[in-house]
Amino acid sequence: CGIVGYIGKRDAYPIVLKGLQRLEYRGYDSAGIALYDGVNLNVCKTKGKVLDLKNKMEAEGVSQGNIGIGHTRWATHGVPNDVNSHPHYSNSEDLVIIHNGIIENYDALKKELIKRGYTFKSDTDTEVLVNLIEDVKNKENVKLGKAVQIALNQTIGAYAIAVFDRNKPDEIVVARLGSPLAIGVGEDEFFIASDASPFIEFTKNAIYLEDGEMAIVRLGREVKVREIKNDSSVDPYVQELQMNLEQIEKGGYDHFMLKEIYEQPNAIVDTYRGRMLVDKGIIRMAGVDDNIEKFTNAKRIIIVACGTSWHAGLVAEYIFEDIARIPVEVEYASEFRYRNPIINKNDVVIAISQSGETADTMAAIKLAKEKGAFVFGVCNVVGSSISRETHAGAYTHAGPEIGVASTKAFTTQITVLSLIALKLAKAKGEINNADFHYHLQELDLIPGKIKKALEANDHIKEVAKKYMNAANFLYLGRGFNFPVALEGALKLKEISYIHAEGYPAAEMKHGPIALIDEKMPVVVIATKKGHYEKVVSNIQEIKSREGRIIGIVTEGDEDVRSMANYVIEVPDTIEAFTPLLTTIPLQLLSYHIAVMLNKNVDQPRNLAKSVTVE
Ligand code: G6P
Repeated sequence: CGIVGYIGKRDAYPIVLKGLQRLEYRGYDSAGIALYDGVNLNVCKTKGKVLDLKNKMEAEGVSQGNIGIGHTRWATHGVPNDVNSHPHYSNSEDLVIIHNGIIENYDALKKELIKRGYTFKSDTDTEVLVNLIEDVKNKENVKLGKAVQIALNQTIGAYAIAVFDRNKPDEIVVARLGSPLAIGVGEDEFFIASDASPFIEFTKNAIYLEDGEMAIVRLGREVKVREIKNDSSVDPYVQELQMNLEQIEKGGYDHFMLKEIYEQPNAIVDTYRGRMLVDKGIIRMAGVDDNIEKFTNAKRIIIVACGTSWHAGLVAEYIFEDIARIPVEVEYASEFRYRNPIINKNDVVIAISQSGETADTMAAIKLAKEKGAFVFGVCNVVGSSISRETHAGAYTHAGPEIGVASTKAFTTQITVLSLIALKLAKAKGEINNADFHYHLQELDLIPGKIKKALEANDHIKEVAKKYMNAANFLYLGRGFNFPVALEGALKLKEISYIHAEGYPAAEMKHGPIALIDEKMPVVVIATKKGHYEKVVSNIQEIKSREGRIIGIVTEGDEDVRSMANYVIEVPDTIEAFTPLLTTIPLQLLSYHIAVMLNKNVDQPRNLAKSVTVE
């Protein structure tokens, strides 16, 4: 979910509304806004997108007020409908709340509140929380801030909340545990949001609350930050933001996803700039350099991640094992955290996360830390929760990724992980100087080669047109490109809702081959480097069962071309870096299919970009 708030002299409505639109990547099954105009506290909310909310608010004529809070939801408790949408009133309708997260003990709290006479309109845990705050406030006769603090100490779970009390209309109380919350500090005005994008055009000064902190944001006063548990005050750190507005707008592209696909050449340069010094033959990464012994002594690296980041982890497994000769295990964070994993003293855990907020990944990190592992983070969002929770890390520097289907985050994650693998290979003496140099030179050529791969766009559009009505797709790859096949299938599923499976090409004969007939498009990654002949045999097996073959091949390839229905070329590179190129046509293919099927590319149904709940 995403939350936004404003308190100041401006009209709150346009700020909150636009902010919600920027945060829609965090969930978009319902939305709502509460506005206070000095007299009335109005709440308007609806199932659907922020645009539906805008229409409803405009139809109802509620847009007045200098204080507002808004929410865009990704349902956890209760189906997406108007009633379950946020903001939620307390029973007296004096308080309103917006909440991102889950209150796990809401049921017990609710029963208690019902006994005390409270009634509930929605099925949400959030409505329980706002009534708990109201109950504490009345019972203890305390102000809003104190009531929030006491109430939160009775909850178990995760939250980023903003609460407003019409009896105290110069302040908003916010708190965070597990879900992100930033406060934008302007002149005589404050902004509140899940990330800084809603207020970037108004102020560059932001306070990021830490887990377990709350703040009272009051007009005419400095922001007061306190620890929720023990009520001690904390000096807020006001950070200057680097992000600019242009980075979070579409810049002429039809969709964020397409913009982000095309940003990959630059994003990868941003990832290795200053780190990879090709002429000098060195890789500098502070997070690795400062902990080099932890890495070189590692008996094993465990990678934890979810979704696309998990796929980047799988690619990294091949790279680390091949180049640095360190055994690697790649785990879904959600599985790792609940299966009592064996972690030894010399294990290094690498957590990969674009958002740096994924709840399962965060929990896996905490568990690994408890068990004594050194935990290294690979995140894109600067200052995100995971980047702060890990012992050290390296940012991908891909810039904001807005499209829900991850693209540039994936390739920049692979870039960072390749740099680390190369660095460790060198430190451990697993790679000779010439080879090391050669790898750096090749990596330096990748952005240009991605540009070349992007030139196939029109051709890929034709392929998309041909197969857009298929009910299923199969994606096959081997070695370094097996994870790319998984990622290609995931991209298609996510945005076009066509069922797709990724498989190691040779495993096809152990099951999926039964699915192949003349209606089945099979995307096969068959680059010259990497088991080419073996993959060609797999292509023959598909062809003899009449499957339709889309080959992702190295420029100039003739063999696959003679067998395939379509080929899409990518430039040649060393095997370890082929995923950075073969991924590109797969991203474009899923993009065009989704556009042709009229799907919402940037905000596919049921998904959220940042999943801050388990
Ligand atoms: C969500 C997103 C995916 C993403 C995954 C992990 O499911 O829709 O695109 O890969 O979370 O997110 P993270 O931010 O941890 O990389």
